[in-house]
Amino acid sequence: MCGIVGYVGARECTEVLLDSLSKLEYRGYDSAGIAVFENGEIRTQKSKGKISDLIEKMDKEGRISGHCGIGHTRWATHGEPSDINSHPHGNANITIVHNGIIENYKKIKEFLEKKGYVFESQTDTETVAKLLDCFYEGNPLSTIQRVLDEIEGSYALGIMFKDYPNRIYAVRKDSPLIVASGENEAFIASDVPAVLKYTKNFYLLEQDEIAVLDNGRVEFYDDHGAPIRKEMHIADFDMEAAEKGGYAHFMLKEIHEQPTAVRTTVTPRISDGMPCLEECGMTYDRLKSYNNIFVVACGTAMHAGLVGKYVIEKIARIPVTVDVASEFRYRNPILCSEDLVILVSQSGETADTLEALRLAKRNGADTLSIVNVKGSSIARESDMVLYTHAGPEISVASTKAYMVQLSVFYLIAFALAYADGKISTEECKRLTSELQTVPEVIDKILEKPGDCQYVASQLVNSENLLYIGRGLDYALSMEGSLKLKEISYIHSESYAAGELKHGTISLVTSGMPVIAVATQRDLFDKTISNVKEVKARGAKVIMVTHENSDVDSDAADIVIGLPTIDDLLMPMTAVVPLQLIAYYTSVLRGNDVDKPRNLAKSVTVE
Ligand code: F6R
Repeated sequence: MCGIVGYVGARECTEVLLDSLSKLEYRGYDSAGIAVFENGEIRTQKSKGKISDLIEKMDKEGRISGHCGIGHTRWATHGEPSDINSHPHGNANITIVHNGIIENYKKIKEFLEKKGYVFESQTDTETVAKLLDCFYEGNPLSTIQRVLDEIEGSYALGIMFKDYPNRIYAVRKDSPLIVASGENEAFIASDVPAVLKYTKNFYLLEQDEIAVLDNGRVEFYDDHGAPIRKEMHIADFDMEAAEKGGYAHFMLKEIHEQPTAVRTTVTPRISDGMPCLEECGMTYDRLKSYNNIFVVACGTAMHAGLVGKYVIEKIARIPVTVDVASEFRYRNPILCSEDLVILVSQSGETADTLEALRLAKRNGADTLSIVNVKGSSIARESDMVLYTHAGPEISVASTKAYMVQLSVFYLIAFALAYADGKISTEECKRLTSELQTVPEVIDKILEKPGDCQYVASQLVNSENLLYIGRGLDYALSMEGSLKLKEISYIHSESYAAGELKHGTISLVTSGMPVIAVATQRDLFDKTISNVKEVKARGAKVIMVTHENSDVDSDAADIVIGLPTIDDLLMPMTAVVPLQLIAYYTSVLRGNDVDKPRNLAKSVTVE
């Protein structure tokens, strides 16, 4: 949800800003812009569209040049994507970039208009720039603090004052921001991959802490303006992890990284063949103390929770409620201290999930987060955290993060079922060992993408399609459907196969593709009956099932057969063809696979 960067040092700042912004473009690509100190003046260049559009414009106008500047890539919230609404905002004296939403911007705007300020853009950000200007009396730190007292909402801000050339001020609340330092140079960025090319050393800014980057030095101040020392972190992945590495798209690369991601996430959490989650304080005794489990997340992460629910309820027999975070926050959920609330998030910064976590804590529930980005807000604020070790996920459409979220849910389910005496040690070891075979199976599926490419060629001109399944297959098909619609722009719905005939089957017309997921053998015959119902109405059926399943030739037009593993674990392998089908369909339709329209990777506004 918008990416911000800043640089102070000896390098040509425009190059660094554009390069760092390109690593953050997954956060939004409605417009881009930079502001740089050039000969003591703040100069700004910005443009609607992607960073490539900005570069084209800069090459026509002549690039600004200097050694200190800030940059922004936008996901529009207030005001359409346009040159005027692009960041940076401000004037020749104070210029800012902003990620987040200023909720009381209308009130501030009225206050400023009464003082004679005239607004150019429709953005909330311009009110912050003008409020800084209004309060400024020569001291940037106290001005920023005064502004922070007035603004409500979420923000990560990079600020430049003309009176202090070669200096950047940065502050955040509920939007991510890191400060990184190299030799005689310093950076700000919304995410670590933006600066990895230059340094691995970074600091995490806490709520309302202010960083001052001055000629490559970094100083930090608390929310009362007192200087503070902060712990430096070292990124545990390098540039390669944030590059395409020969793949046509990040999404394809990330799909192929799934076997390694599962191994890295699962292996350290197995001890003597048994799942072990004690690293975060989740002992068997603590696990079995919960009466209810809630899983709260958004989008793909929520879909991982749906699979988690089926698995936990099936083998551990504990009730699990899965909620979309934006609903959970406002439905006054009934929680108590015997409940566990599991928050799932790749970025660890999703605004609704973060607020759901805070709500759960206020209500006395135990909170456990499953998070990919180390040190992110959700990870830091939850009682316990289990990190997924997927490495940076750059593609806006999530794949490997979903995969590792599933693997953590399996570990939790096995541990819970064992702790509660629902499965024996032998069964727990068998399931755990089966989980460890999943990466090999995924590798096998990835070796032969031909079937998925063929399915994509059959879907490419469709306008609508359905995904159907039962039980775990239904939970999984939700993710398949989301993946396809977000990157191919083909409308699709996921439906419980048995529910279809209660209304939705009226949508089925001759030639309409229906992707049926049928990996759960206890439900296979039932799903086949539903498949036949759509087939009888002319649907073109693509079935994803075990390779040795007995599928009548009149039931499916195309069958994608998967190597057989325990049915419980099949979502981890069956999701791979669904991801590939979405990927190849998007490629065939000529879409920007890694940056689908209207989306952004990290949703830090509600
Ligand atoms: C879809 C996708 C989104 C995210 C959702 C939550 O491919 O990536 O649906 O899963 O925005 O994001 P995180 O996991 O960062 O909280």
